[in-house]
Amino acid sequence: MKFGHFDDSTREYVIETPKTPYPWINYLGSEAFFGLISNTAGGYNFYKDARLRRITRYRYNNVPIDMGGRYFYINDNGTVWNPGWSPVKTELDAYECRHGMGYTIITGKKNDLKAQVTFFVPNGYDGEVQQVVLTNEGSAPKTFKLFSFAEWCLWDAQDDCTNFQRNFSTGRVEVDGSVIYHKTEYRDRRNHYAFYSVNDAIDGYDTDRDSFIGLYNGFNNPEAVLAGKATDSFADGWSPIASHYKEITLAAGESKTLIFILGYVEMPVDQKFEADGKTINKVKAKAMIEKFDTPEKVAAGLADLKASWDKLLGILNVATPDDKVDRMVNIWNQYQCMVTFNLSRSASYFESGIGRGMGFRDSNQDILGFVHQIPDRAKERIIDIASTQFPDGGCYHQYQPLTKKGNADIGGDFSDDPLWLILSVSAYIKETGDWSILDEMVPYDNDMSVAQTMLEHLKVSFYHIVNNLGPHGLPLAMRADWNDCINLSCYSDTPGESFQTYTNPKFKAEGGYSKVAESVMVATLFTYTGPNYVAILKHLGKDDEAAAAQAEIDKMKKNIMESAWDGDWFLRAYDANGEKMGSKECEEGQIFIEPQGFAIMSDVGKEQGADKKTLAAIDERLNTEFGLVLNNPAFTKYYIQYGEISTYPGGYKENAGIFTHNNAWIICAAAYAGEGDQAFKYYSEIAPAFTEETSDIHKTEPYVYGQMIGGKDAGSDIGRTGKNFGQGKNSWLTGTAAWNMVAISQYILGVQPDFDGLKIDPSIPSAWDGFTITRKYRGAEYKVTIKNPDHVCKGIKSVTVDGSAIEGNILPVFDGGVHNVEVVMG
Ligand code: BGC
Ligand code: NOJ
Repeated sequence: MKFGHFDDSTREYVIETPKTPYPWINYLGSEAFFGLISNTAGGYNFYKDARLRRITRYRYNNVPIDMGGRYFYINDNGTVWNPGWSPVKTELDAYECRHGMGYTIITGKKNDLKAQVTFFVPNGYDGEVQQVVLTNEGSAPKTFKLFSFAEWCLWDAQDDCTNFQRNFSTGRVEVDGSVIYHKTEYRDRRNHYAFYSVNDAIDGYDTDRDSFIGLYNGFNNPEAVLAGKATDSFADGWSPIASHYKEITLAAGESKTLIFILGYVEMPVDQKFEADGKTINKVKAKAMIEKFDTPEKVAAGLADLKASWDKLLGILNVATPDDKVDRMVNIWNQYQCMVTFNLSRSASYFESGIGRGMGFRDSNQDILGFVHQIPDRAKERIIDIASTQFPDGGCYHQYQPLTKKGNADIGGDFSDDPLWLILSVSAYIKETGDWSILDEMVPYDNDMSVAQTMLEHLKVSFYHIVNNLGPHGLPLAMRADWNDCINLSCYSDTPGESFQTYTNPKFKAEGGYSKVAESVMVATLFTYTGPNYVAILKHLGKDDEAAAAQAEIDKMKKNIMESAWDGDWFLRAYDANGEKMGSKECEEGQIFIEPQGFAIMSDVGKEQGADKKTLAAIDERLNTEFGLVLNNPAFTKYYIQYGEISTYPGGYKENAGIFTHNNAWIICAAAYAGEGDQAFKYYSEIAPAFTEETSDIHKTEPYVYGQMIGGKDAGSDIGRTGKNFGQGKNSWLTGTAAWNMVAISQYILGVQPDFDGLKIDPSIPSAWDGFTITRKYRGAEYKVTIKNPDHVCKGIKSVTVDGSAIEGNILPVFDGGVHNVEVVMG
C-alpha cells in the first residue's frame, strides 16, 4: 500500500494523507541553520549543533507521536484546524504534503478555506521561512483567526529537558511590533538570540506557554485558540513560546499571504545591547526579516534554493531502463547523502540530537556519497575529522560539531575507525584530483603544536592496524569494530553497563581490551582500503614505502586465508577465548555479512574461488525478499563473549536484522565479481523507491533509506515470526545512504572516480539494453552512452571518447568542455 507518490518532475514526494504509518519527515537547511519537519509540520530547529544550539522544542517518543512543531492554528467560527491536520486533528476536506529538496509544502483545506504553508531555509540564511497563503475558495466572505506557534528551547537541548529547577526561572522574551524575540540567558554568557516574526501587523500575541495552551490542555486544544483570542501574555520564566494572532477577512476568491520567519542571530558580545544595556540589539534580525518580507522575495529565495539543487543534482544524472533507479540516483539518494553529510547520526526522528555528535567512522563514510556534490565542504570535513586523531593513529570515536573537539566520554579504541579516513581522503582525491589535501597540516587531538601532514595521518591510520594484530595476525577487535554491538572485550553480566565502554577487569592489565580477540571484518576492510594508501604513495614517488605497505596487505590476505576462511565464507572474528565467531562450527551466528564484501572486493582467496563461494552462501543464508540479514542463524540467547549483539531479539538491529548499510557492501561485491543480476536483486530489495509499494509494511519514508529493516527472524522468540519482517526503523541518518550511492553509481552503473580519471566499469542486470550517464568531473562534462547488445552483466568491448577509441576504460581528464563517450559492453 502507498500513502503518496513520487513527482519526479518537481523532485518531490507527495504525501496524500497525514496518517502515514510513521511521521514522514524532511530536512530544511544544509549549511548552519537546520529544521526537521514532518508531514504534519512537527519537528524542530537548531543552529549547527542539535544538542548545544537547539532553537525550538520537540517531544521525543511522545504520546501521541510527533508533538512539538511549527503549528498554524485556524479558528474559523469555532471550527479549529491545522493545515497539516495535527495537532488538532480536525478532519480536513483536503490535505497534501510535498517534501522537496530542502523545502516542504503542506496544504490543508477546510470549509472552503485553503491554507498552504511553504517551509524552507534559504541558502546562506540562518532562519526558516514559513509562507502561509490563505485562500477563500468559497462564494461568500470569510472571517477567521490565525495563530502561529513555536516553543523555544533554552539552547542546550539536553539541559532543557532535564534541568527544570533552573530552567523554569530563566526564560526571557521581548516583543517588538510583530516580532517576538527569544533571549533567555542573554545577559550573562550568550552572544545570540532567536526571533519569530511575521510581515504584517498582528492583533495580539502570546509568549507564555501556559497562558496560550493552558496547563491542563495540549497542543491539540490550546485555550487561546479555542477562545479565539490571544492573551498577550509575556513570559517570565517557565516555558517561553512565540505565537502571533491575527484576525483575517477574505472576500470570496481572495488570498492573503503572510510570511513568518523563525530566525537565529549571533553577534559580538560587545554589541549585544542597545544603549540601555538590556534591550537586545535587533539590527541583524531586522535585516534578516527584511530579506524575505514579500512573496516576491520568498519566491526568489525558493527559486535560488531549487537552482542550487539543480546544480548539485546536475553533477551526476542517469537514464536507465528502470525509472526507480533514476529516481534514486538522480534525486533521493543524492539528497539523503547531503543530509547525512550535514548531520551524521545526530538529529532525526530516531536520533534525539542530544545523544551523539559526529562519528569518526560515520562521517568518513558519509563523504563517499557526498564528495562529488561539494568537494570543498568534504575537504573541510575530512580535516575536521582527522584533527581528532591521536598520534598513534587511533582516534576519538566521536566529536561535537560546534566545538569540533573529540568526545572524551566515548574515547577511542574502535578498531575500524582509522581505516575510514584512508577511504574518505582517497575518495576526495579521486573526485577532484586535488592531491594538495595530503600536504595540509592537521593536528592530533586538536593540538596544532603537534600537527603533521594529512599524508602522515594516513600513515598512522594504516599502521595502527598493522601495529595491533592478534595471535592469527589479524587486527585486534578492541572495543568494537564497525559493528558496535560485537563487544569481544566486554563480558558484561551487570545490567546497565555500557557494552562499549565497560571492559572486563581481566583485560585491564592489557590496556583495556583483549589481545586475543580479532576482527576479520577489519582485516578485510584493511585489504580493501589499503591499496588506496599504496596508490597514493606510488603517485608521490614513495616507492619503498608503497612496497612496504603492499607487503602488509599481502601478508594480511595470507593470514585471512590461513585463519579466517571457513570453507564457504569468511569468519567474523576470533573471540577473547580464541574461539571462532561466524563459523559453521558455531551453534548460532554461523555466517556474518560484514567481512564478506570487502574480502571479495580485495580478491582475498579469489584464485580458490572464494568470491563465488561466498556470494552463493550469502544468497542462500542471508538473503530475504526485504534484503540481506546481518547474520544467521540469529542469536537466541545471550553470549557473554559477544556482548550487545546477542542481547537483541533475533531479527532486530545487529542481531540478524537487515542492516541496510552493509547490504551495500554485498551489492558492491557482487557487482565487482561480475554478478550484475545478483547485485541488482539486492539493490532493489532495499532501495526506497522499490519498497514504496509496501509502505504499510515498511512504515518509514519511501524516499530515503533507513538503517534497519526487520529481518526474517523478527518476532521469532515470541512466536510472531513474520509480523515485523520488512518493517523499517531509524530512517534518514545512516551510512546506508552513502554506501548505496556508491553501490548503484560506482559499482552497478560503473562510474568510478579514480586517481587518474573517471573509470567506467558497469555491472548491470543482463536484461538491460544499456543506459546513459551525464557526469561532471574535474571541470569537464562527460556524456556517456553505454550499450549492452550482448546482454552481459559486466565487461567492456570498446570505449570511444569524442569519436576516437581509447585503450582501457579510464576516461581521460579534460580541461573543461563536453565530451561524448560511447561504451559497448560485451
Ligand atoms: C547501539 C548501536 C549504535 C551504537 C552507536 C550502540 O549501543 O546499540 O546500534 O550504533 O551504540 O554508538
Ligand atoms: C550505527 C552507527 O552509527 C555505526 O557507526 C555503526 O557502524 C552501526 N551502527 C553498526 O553497529
